[in-house]
Parts: sequence; C-alpha cells; structure tokens
Amino acid sequence: DIQLRELHRNTAQYADKEIVVRGWVRTNRSSNKFGFIEINDGTFFKSVQIVYEADKIDNFDQIAKALISSALMVRGTVTLTPEAKQPFEIKAAEVVIEADSAADYPLQKKRHSMEFMREIAHLRPRSNTFSAVFRVRSLVSYAIHKFFQDNDFVYVHTPIVTGSDCEGAGEMFRITTLDMENPPRTEEGKIDYGEDFFGKETSLTVSGQLEAETFALAFRNVYTFGPTFRAENSYTARHASEFWMIEPEIAFADLEDNMELAEAMVKYIINYVLEHAPEEMEFFNKFMEKGLLERLDNIVNSDFGRVTYTEAVELLKKSGKEFQYPVEWGIDLQTEHERYLTEEIFKKPLFVTDYPKEIKAFYMRLNEDNKTVAACDLLVPGVGEIIGGSQREERLDVLTQRMAELDLDEKDYWWYLDLRKYGGVKHAGYGLGLERIVLYITGMGNIRDVLPFPRTPKTAEF
Ligand code: 4AD
Ligand code: MG
Repeated sequence: DIQLRELHRNTAQYADKEIVVRGWVRTNRSSNKFGFIEINDGTFFKSVQIVYEADKIDNFDQIAKALISSALMVRGTVTLTPEAKQPFEIKAAEVVIEADSAADYPLQKKRHSMEFMREIAHLRPRSNTFSAVFRVRSLVSYAIHKFFQDNDFVYVHTPIVTGSDCEGAGEMFRITTLDMENPPRTEEGKIDYGEDFFGKETSLTVSGQLEAETFALAFRNVYTFGPTFRAENSYTARHASEFWMIEPEIAFADLEDNMELAEAMVKYIINYVLEHAPEEMEFFNKFMEKGLLERLDNIVNSDFGRVTYTEAVELLKKSGKEFQYPVEWGIDLQTEHERYLTEEIFKKPLFVTDYPKEIKAFYMRLNEDNKTVAACDLLVPGVGEIIGGSQREERLDVLTQRMAELDLDEKDYWWYLDLRKYGGVKHAGYGLGLERIVLYITGMGNIRDVLPFPRTPKTAEF
C-alpha cells in the first residue's frame, strides 16, 4: 500500500493508476447511490477523499455506515480533480473495514475546546490541530539536532538523576529509596541520606548545564537535549513540571558569541519548519494566529534586538504604563514587563543582558561593575522568555567568593571547581525551552497543548 504523504507529494505519478491506501475515517457521508469518505493515515496533514458507489463495490451498505475513526483498506484509482477543492480523489473498487470504531468516539466532526482535548490526550493526536502540533514538535526537535550536528557540536547526555541543584531555586523533585514515613535520622534529627541508594540527597535534573560545562571544556562545542523537571507550583500557560530543554555550551566564547549562536539557531529552526511543514503552518496561520507566517518571515529576515537590563528598566519606567508589579532596578522582570518590552517597545525578539547578580544563578560571570552578571535572556512577542543563558564565571576566586555569599558548600561542587583549576577558559551557554519555541512557532497558547502528555501540578493521567 501507499502512504498518504507519498501520494500527496507525488500525485502526478499515480494519476489514473490503481493503488491501495489505508487510513482512519475522518468523515463519511452518502446518498443511496454513492458516498464520500475522507481518510487519513497520519503521514500527511491533509486527508484523501474516497468516492464509493453502489454499482462499483459490493458492500456499499456496510461502508456507508462506517463510523468515524474506523480503519479502512481502500483499493481504487487515483483521479485528478483540478476544479475541486482537493487536487485528487480515489474512486474505490474495493473497501474493507480493517478495524471498527464505536459510535461513542469522542472526536466527532465539530470544534472541541482545548480543555476537553486535554482530557483525551490519548486521542487528540488524531485531530487536525494536534496532528499539526506534534509533527511540528518533531520537526523542531530534529532541526535542533541538525543545526548543532551540522556545526560539529557534540551531543552529550547529562544525568536525569542528579545530586546538584543547578539553578539553586529549590524547585527539585526529590527521589529517594528511604522509607519517608520513618526515615533514618542524623544525631541532629535531619534525614540521613547516607542510607539512601546514592548515599546522598538526589533529585530529577532542573538543568544539564553544569555537566554540559564539563564536556564543553573537553570538546569545545557541545549541547544537551533532554527532559527537565521543575517542581515550581506555577499554574501558568508557560510552565510545565516536565519539559524538554536544549542546552548548548561553548568554550573560548563570551556572551556575544552565545547570543549569536542563539539567534542563528532560532532562525534555523523556524526556516526548517516552514520548509518541512508548509501545510501545518498554513493551518496555524489560518486557525491559531492570523499573520503568523508574516511574523515568522520577519523574524528570520531581521536582527534580534539587544538591550541591557538597566536600559530595559529605564524604558519600562519611561513608558508610563501602569504595571501590576512596579518596576524598580533590582526586580526580577515579570511576564508583563517582558512582554511589554518585546511586544510594545521593540516589537521583535529581544535579548535582555546584564541582570543584577542577586536575581540570577551562582555560576554567571560577574561584570566589572560588581553588580550585574553576563546573562542573556531571549524574549519573544506572544510567549515571553524562551531562552535563558549566560557567560559562566571561569575565575576560581570570584566563583568561590560568590558561592560563599550564597552559602553554597564548595564540597558539593568540587568537580565544578576543578573545571576552573585545569584550563578553565571563558565559556558560555544557554537553555532553550523546547515547548516555548513550539508555542512561538505554532501560535498555540498553552504549554499543555504542545506537550504530548503534559505534566502540570495535579495532572498525571498517563
Ligand atoms: O532560564 P532557565 O531556568 O535557565 C537554565 O536552566 C540554565 N541552566 C540554562 C543554561 O544556561 N544552560 O531555563 C531555560 C529555559 C527558559 O528560558 C524556558 O524557555 C525553559 O527553559 N523553562 C521552562 N519551560 C517550561 N516549563 C518550565 N517550568 C520551564 N522553566 C524553564
Ligand atoms: Mg530563566
């Protein structure tokens, strides 16, 4: 049999030929002489129309009753239909029901709310919207690998189970083999992780960065791409507790090199998706965000903006806009500020750099002013932050000083400090949230709708 992607892509080659296709019924309507079935096998965004006639097939009555989502085998002739909406159809000579569907199939032909679709995460990939979303997600993932591999980056698998909290935000999911109802305790009454499987407190990773740094100082250019976990209790449309992060790390490189890499990567991903999923992108442009294609076209053809945190704060203050959370130098920029900067002031993707050290992680390189660090966040219209990155503190004395200020125990980071002792050249990197860039490219509004099986607070059906 022929897969529908092949048939759509090379239709002319099959014109007037008899072929066999398989797929699931999307719609079925008939009179007493003939009927039309749209089938889709998932290999291509668009369905194929099957025309069946009482004179031509011997099980007409059975096929006329075939329910949505039953699986069919169709033998028939490809007929070009240049005047019709779809470029071709298949005139059936034989139709066989390979698997029945029940009448209570939840995805009947009508519009369903996104909330309803989340309740049927096992069926929603069969809908147009989610078929488009998850093919684009797959393409984005592949484009990321291709971008880095074509540029000779080494892909490194960093641990999922880890003993270090990279971001220092205390948002880790603990894992332990101890009996937590009655855990062993130290003399001071603290839980004694010495008896745990790993002999210490361990969690699911919040970032592979620290481990990626060890490989960057061996291979120069590396990246990670893997699942990431955060127990932040935020019920927002941009946060999930399990998401995927891409973290390149480059040696002999500073903040400027880091931003250049990020900008080239984002543009590459967008171009790749536009080229490889034109039907899906057309669909998003029509149903999710009017003007999406124009927006993406602008992004790949213009330079991203640059502004320092200090300038950004000034711009926000001068804007006269009343924010819910008042703007002062030193605050962590909130989503409302980020979106105002990128949507109203700059109107394009925007790097904000050099944040106050107090609101950033311990590993970021301290600037000359002793107040800010060499950080860069990439903000984009519609979504906000999609990338967080920085140049790393490579100076051992400055790093240990900063760790002391933050009460971090050098013993826990001995290997990280070793990197600074043995040829610890300047280096930089960033983390891109996979779901955030998928939201950005598709115009979808909620992170739950770009994750195949979203893990958010109080939801884990699968
Ligand atoms: O800004 P973050 O916290 O940076 C880091 O973790 C660094 N260690 C990265 C690095 O320099 N190697 O996270 C990076 C990105 C964010 O910009 C965001 O896109 C995504 O990860 N992200 C989340 N995405 C979905 N749900 C969450 N809860 C996320 N938290 C972060
Ligand atoms: Mg961040």
